[in-house]
Amino acid sequence: MTRTARAYTNIALIKYWGKKNKQLKLPFTNSLSLTLDRFYTDTKATIINNDEDIVYLNGQLLNTTQNKRILKYLDTVRQFYSFNDHFQIDSINHVPTSAGFASSASGFAALAASINETKKLNLNRRQLSILARNGSGSASRSIYGGFVEWIAGADNESSFAVPIDENPEIDLTLLSVVINKHSKKISSTVGMENSVKSSPFYENWVTLVTSEIKEIKQAIAQKDVQKIGEISEHNAMCMHALTLSANPSFTYFEPETLQIIQIIKELRQKGIFAYATIDAGPNVKIICTKESLPKVQTYIEQQLSNVTTVIANIGSGIQYI
Ligand code: PMV
Repeated sequence: MTRTARAYTNIALIKYWGKKNKQLKLPFTNSLSLTLDRFYTDTKATIINNDEDIVYLNGQLLNTTQNKRILKYLDTVRQFYSFNDHFQIDSINHVPTSAGFASSASGFAALAASINETKKLNLNRRQLSILARNGSGSASRSIYGGFVEWIAGADNESSFAVPIDENPEIDLTLLSVVINKHSKKISSTVGMENSVKSSPFYENWVTLVTSEIKEIKQAIAQKDVQKIGEISEHNAMCMHALTLSANPSFTYFEPETLQIIQIIKELRQKGIFAYATIDAGPNVKIICTKESLPKVQTYIEQQLSNVTTVIANIGSGIQYI
């Protein structure tokens, strides 16, 4: 029986923002993330007697425009492992109703693992991380649970994620605040390319990430949640400064994003633990402690009517079910 692969999404505390090799998705810097337990993808790959792949997402057959990236990825996998089989891919994204975000991290990690399973490639987790990275950079980190570091590397074989602490006993919870808006999206691929090309601060970013990775690893080892919060928020703001300082300038922020950042500052002034991190979109993930979480959630929901909040805890790595 072929098992289904399950991969959870991850949130970068130290962001990956910029590729030194676009084809291989090799980043300029290391990055560091936390795997979450709420948002995941279940994927099953079945070998079919066909000369084209077929992809179903959430039960719906994808057309040639929708599945372009996945088909290209499957070609890469065939080339890597020298086989010619084609697949039916059945993928289900488990995201809470109206949370409104799917994730390329869990998507490509589950896809890589499902092919490993179906083709009996017997890849170890490092090889799986390399394979997932070729689909989407952040997917390399979703192979592991807990805190994970993606080592930038210099070529295909040396760029992979490693676990830092897969089962951390740490008082840290995430509140994901989803802004219910459908704004025009600049993909992370295009966004990082523009930042690398034209932000005058890109070199500083590379230097900053190198030192923040060191600092946050120390904070993780010491279970210093306040330090983790401070470093993560600062890193996220610096990543978004790269979009604002690109030429032409762009931003993923919506008015509500800024409102939430402001609210988080107010909460801290009241002595409530809350730090923000934001990916390539308007939604804000708030780093909380068990104690601060209900207060932060109530306050956000009182102040903003057009948002949905979802609580996420620390999640595990790839599973086969
Ligand atoms: O892997 P991608 O192409 O989805 O890019 C991820 C970019 C960020 O989410 C903004 C940062 C990160 O490290 O996950």
